[in-house]
Amino acid sequence: MKALSIKDIALKANVSITTVSFIINGKAKEKSISDAVIKKVQQIIIDSGYKPNQIARSLRTGNSNIIGLIIEDISNSFFSRIARLIEDKAYKKGYKIIYSSTENSVEKAQELINLFKSRKVDAYIISPMKGIEEDIQILLNENKPVIFFDRNLPELNTNYVGANHFVASYQAIESFIKQGKQKIALVTTNIDVQQIIERFEGYKKALIDYALPFDEELVLRIPFNQPEVDTIAAIKQLLKNKDIDAILFATNYLAISGLRVLKQTGKKLDENFAVIGYDDHEAFELHTPSISTIQQPLEEIAETIIKLILNQLSSKTKLPDQQIIIPAKLILRN
Ligand code: RIB
Repeated sequence: MKALSIKDIALKANVSITTVSFIINGKAKEKSISDAVIKKVQQIIIDSGYKPNQIARSLRTGNSNIIGLIIEDISNSFFSRIARLIEDKAYKKGYKIIYSSTENSVEKAQELINLFKSRKVDAYIISPMKGIEEDIQILLNENKPVIFFDRNLPELNTNYVGANHFVASYQAIESFIKQGKQKIALVTTNIDVQQIIERFEGYKKALIDYALPFDEELVLRIPFNQPEVDTIAAIKQLLKNKDIDAILFATNYLAISGLRVLKQTGKKLDENFAVIGYDDHEAFELHTPSISTIQQPLEEIAETIIKLILNQLSSKTKLPDQQIIIPAKLILRN
């Protein structure tokens, strides 16, 4: 059977082509089309096997209803959970998400931006790294909505949504100090991205504010993406300093490596030695004793990103950029 066109569907349903188009593009609700009509048209579409031609539609309407999501590492539970929340919220509004990981490589990010351009994505959600400023500026010049999340590139005029990394890290150190900890180490990574820098700054400022010595020896910077076996060896080396009575891990994957070290060395978590992780993770809850952590507000971050993007996509004019910082929560466990 000849593939039905949108016109055939409209005739069968006895509604206008525009109505069918709104229903197919997930815009029926905002155009207040009745549920009865939506159901009727959807049934006709299902019965007729109509497949809206993605490229034809994007050529005609100028939008693909696809959003490009560029993240650091989809296997990192922070990004995979955020990606899932974004995908779910976008889908409910008639948008599809295509995503890929950059591992903070500028070249990979540039490749992805070009790929998403060829797919005519309507907007970009990016956890950026330094070095892609010009590529982003080109998107902005083309009036493409761009939302940064997790870390910002402040010199660009874009929207940004992220947790209050500095404060969260500061509060974690404060809680150690209130427990009487004196030699607090930070295990972080050496990537030059804003949220990692802010976590270091929060750690350092808390020590200084509480008149504890800041000692670079107690800051372990793990090369980004190095094999975990080397990370474990480096943390073991750090723990040769028996005076260390607390460690803040600056990311979820570093905290997991830290737990592996404790398991391998038999070092106990007790009143003499405490850790705090970053990003919640099942392992922290299931571990005995359960591990305190800084929990980022994933749901609110995802919700805010989608709201900003959809507002911009449905607005004829460029909306003012917003930088929205959402507090993380320090979850103190056993
Ligand atoms: O760079 C990756 C880290 O930044 C993740 O672990 C998460 O904490 C994000 O904020």
